[in-house]
Amino acid sequence: MSKIPHFFLPIVLNLLMPLYVISQQSDHTTLLTVKQQLGNPPWSAAWNASSSPCNWPEIICTADNITYLVLQNKSITGKVPPAICDLKSLTYLDLSYNFIPGGFPTFLYNCSNLQYLNLSQNYFVGPIPSDIDRLSSSLQWFDVSGNNFSGNIPPAIGKLPELRTLYLYQNEFNGTFPEEIGDLANLVNLSMAYNDKFLQAKVPSEFGKLTKLQFLWMADCNLIGEIPDSFLNLSSLEHLDLTYNQLQGPIPKGLLQLKNLSFVYLYRNQLSGEIPTPIESLGLTEFDLSMNNLTGPIPEDVGKLQKLKVFKIFTNQFSGTIPPSIGRIPTLEIFSVFSNKLNGTLPPELGLHSKLEGFEVSDNEFTGKLPEHLCAGKTLFGVVAFSNKLTGKVPESLGGCSSLRTIQLYNNNFSGEVPLGLYTLFNLSSLMLSNNTFSGGLPKRLAWNLTRLEISNNMFSGEIPKEVSSWVSLVVFKASNNQFSGSIPTEFTSLPQAITLFLDGNLLTGELPIIIESWKSLSTLNLARNKLSGQIPAQFGSLPDLLNLDLSENKFSGQIPPELGHLRLTTLNLSYNELTGKIPDEFDNLAYERSFLNNPSLCANNPISNLRKCQTKTRKSKTLSPNILAVILVFSVILFMVTVLLTTFVVRDYKRKKLKRTLAGWKLTSFQILKFTKADILSRMTENNLIGSGGSGKIYRIAVPNSEEFVAVKRIGNSRKLDHKLEEEFLAEVEILGTIRHSNIVKLICCISSEDSKLLVYEYMENQSLDKWLHGKRRTEREPSSGLVHPVVLDWPTRLQIAVGAAQGLCYMHHDCSPAIVHRDVKSSNILLDSEFKPKIADFGLAKILAKRSEPNTMSAVAGSFGYIAPEYAYTAKVNEKIDVYSFGVVLLELVTGREANDGDEHTNLAEWAWRQQGEGISIIDALDEDIKEPLFLGEKTTVFRLGLICTSPQPLSRPSMKEVLQVLRRCDPLED
Ligand SMILES: *[C@@H]1O[C@H](CO)[C@@H](O)[C@H](O)[C@H]1NC(C)=O
Ligand SMILES: *[C@@H]1O[C@H](CO)[C@@H](O)[C@H](O)[C@H]1NC(C)=O
Ligand SMILES: *[C@@H]1O[C@H](CO)[C@@H](O)[C@H](O)[C@H]1NC(C)=O
Repeated sequence: MSKIPHFFLPIVLNLLMPLYVISQQSDHTTLLTVKQQLGNPPWSAAWNASSSPCNWPEIICTADNITYLVLQNKSITGKVPPAICDLKSLTYLDLSYNFIPGGFPTFLYNCSNLQYLNLSQNYFVGPIPSDIDRLSSSLQWFDVSGNNFSGNIPPAIGKLPELRTLYLYQNEFNGTFPEEIGDLANLVNLSMAYNDKFLQAKVPSEFGKLTKLQFLWMADCNLIGEIPDSFLNLSSLEHLDLTYNQLQGPIPKGLLQLKNLSFVYLYRNQLSGEIPTPIESLGLTEFDLSMNNLTGPIPEDVGKLQKLKVFKIFTNQFSGTIPPSIGRIPTLEIFSVFSNKLNGTLPPELGLHSKLEGFEVSDNEFTGKLPEHLCAGKTLFGVVAFSNKLTGKVPESLGGCSSLRTIQLYNNNFSGEVPLGLYTLFNLSSLMLSNNTFSGGLPKRLAWNLTRLEISNNMFSGEIPKEVSSWVSLVVFKASNNQFSGSIPTEFTSLPQAITLFLDGNLLTGELPIIIESWKSLSTLNLARNKLSGQIPAQFGSLPDLLNLDLSENKFSGQIPPELGHLRLTTLNLSYNELTGKIPDEFDNLAYERSFLNNPSLCANNPISNLRKCQTKTRKSKTLSPNILAVILVFSVILFMVTVLLTTFVVRDYKRKKLKRTLAGWKLTSFQILKFTKADILSRMTENNLIGSGGSGKIYRIAVPNSEEFVAVKRIGNSRKLDHKLEEEFLAEVEILGTIRHSNIVKLICCISSEDSKLLVYEYMENQSLDKWLHGKRRTEREPSSGLVHPVVLDWPTRLQIAVGAAQGLCYMHHDCSPAIVHRDVKSSNILLDSEFKPKIADFGLAKILAKRSEPNTMSAVAGSFGYIAPEYAYTAKVNEKIDVYSFGVVLLELVTGREANDGDEHTNLAEWAWRQQGEGISIIDALDEDIKEPLFLGEKTTVFRLGLICTSPQPLSRPSMKEVLQVLRRCDPLED
């Protein structure tokens, strides 16, 4: 800054004086100064000297005085304009959803008429000043949520007597909060949620003085101790949320007598004791006490709550019976009482009087029948009742409940036939009935979307119907230990999605069908303990993903087909059959020691266990002589070349003309020197080269002419014009990828666009996406051209390498790109693997450049994928890097556990499941993926698992940055507890 010489000062001041006077007099001029202090942003074009500020969109006037200034979401990156408080009539100031840095702007103390101050969702840091009560004494609304404020919340905050709303949630406060908040006699809304760095503290009993308080949200505030009895004085309270703390002791006895209470959320604490009795007139709507240590019965009067929609008390120690009157509540939608010690019969009228959606009673001691009318409201999406002592038939009415997605009745004493309609319910994706005494036959048809059918350990009987070929979506079929008879029809082998098939312990007879092509996803086949006979079909050897094969305890005879030796089986059991001859050489080792027991006529070259040694009998191979072979080869080549040449000349000419016409409409934007032309790409986009369909389009694998390379081409849009949303997605992807160069981010080579279709040309990744390796079909070696031997499953060092690489890619986007880039859809299917399993992050369709946030509303829409979405999407529209950290944490958990992101167990997603495992002190070894269960590298596996947990913390602020994640992964030293 250049300094003004002393002797000029009076003159300068004189010059400034008139201006200064005017600005005091004229709010208009003040606003033009504010505009200048904001750096004249484009949105402020309407702010000029010739129009009245009262007409500007950001301003509201009251009788020509400027009273409201709303600068929400204006991409402000500098300080708060100091001139604002020169607007002497200003009562309402909203600066939320910007990027304003720095400490608390104390000059706002000068806005002496301020009633509403909103600084939320910015980058403010440092403490809330201890003299915060110097803010206008008429202040009614004070919102600093979604910033990085730290330190204590000062006691002076209790001296803002008019305060009605105090929002402090989602900051980095690491000190205390004052009991003086209880002095705010007019307070209606108080939220301090998601500040888990607060020092451990009790809820001050002074809060009980807030008799006007309606809304109290203190989730995840590191609270300990008991809920104070003084809460019984909170006579206006409607919404109470103290979830995710460590509160102990009982729920105050009179709590459910606070007559305005509508929402009570106390889940994930350590509360004990019983549920207090509610008053009959209570308008309670949502009641969630899940995951505590509560005991005793459910009070009879809960059934009198005539507005109750959500009733969740799962994972506690409740006992006794459920009051039948709960079944008569007309509003009940969610009934979730699983994992308790409840007994007796279920309320028989449940579902009859309300639009019931969720019914989860598993893991209790219920007896009697399932309620008859669960689906009377036609809204039920799940019947989860496994692990009880339920009896009787499945209600016939469920067979017409088309909204159902899952039915889980295993581990009970149900009997009788399953209502036929159940198998074909339109939305049903899993039906789990194992361990009952159901009878009857298999259905001819299954719901189009049914992926899981589990009926083991029942009394099902009859033949496997030929119509089984229509079970096209089935992935898991478990039907062990029933009484199925007859032979296995050929149609059974045409289940294209089947991965796991269990039919062991039945009465099946006859020969196995010759396996046809479509069993190509099969990984586990268990037909043990039947009466199957004949030869083992050689075609088993061409099932590309087969890992586990159990044909033991049957009557199979003949030779073991040598083709079986080509498989990479992890388990093989052919024991107790009547097989003969030599076992394939590949099995002649200790790994298969127990695979061939009790087949007296089998032999081996290097006998293991009880196999005999084969008599060495050199058989002359009947191959053709080299001379004849050579002749055939030469002839074939000539024939082939003639055909190719002929076809090429005829077809090429036609294609050329056609291409020329179409090419004109395509524009090519390239980001590097190309080895191909747009014609090369366009002419090869055929069905033959199609390798997949992504979120917004088809993906092709196309050979680069005159080289051995391939490129991947993603086509967005089809024959019709791109709709607006897709067009935007496309532009976002191009804009970001075109500028990024990092070895862990998929390289965009060029983009080819026409009016109605867009092509993105990427480098091709041989091993496709990580999810396919972790969850999908296991691969055998392919790509002979690359000469690489691929592991059939990902071993631990490879997994760690993938984690480190992907973390490097994300770290680059978060910390080295300016502005930072949030991917927003990190998941294992967006992590691609090259020929050496080096990972690269793909699919930036959803990524946006933080600083260019133009449409706040589209950002709050949940755009990510189920199971990977960070929970803060639920309560804030602020998108920051921590959302990616969460999703990446889920990927880490997938790498360690092999589970899918949305597959924890029946109630939760993977992240929640992992947290629960941790909470219950279950050993990491039990959570490991089967494929990496060996105790090698256990320290590293533990570290990565824990890191996954930390990354998936419910609170964004407790998640590490990608930089920190990367550091831990690179060292992979054990984490400290
Ligand atoms: C407008 O502002 C002037 C000067 O500050 C004040 O005297 C007047 O009462 C205000 N009018 C209203 C309606 O607030
Ligand atoms: C609280 O956080 C701030 C900012 O990160 C830090 O400077 C301060 O030392 C912390 N205080 C305590 C008590 O941890
Ligand atoms: C739950 O309560 C039982 C006794 O009621 C007690 O033994 C146990 O430690 C409690 N568990 C927790 C996590 O507080």
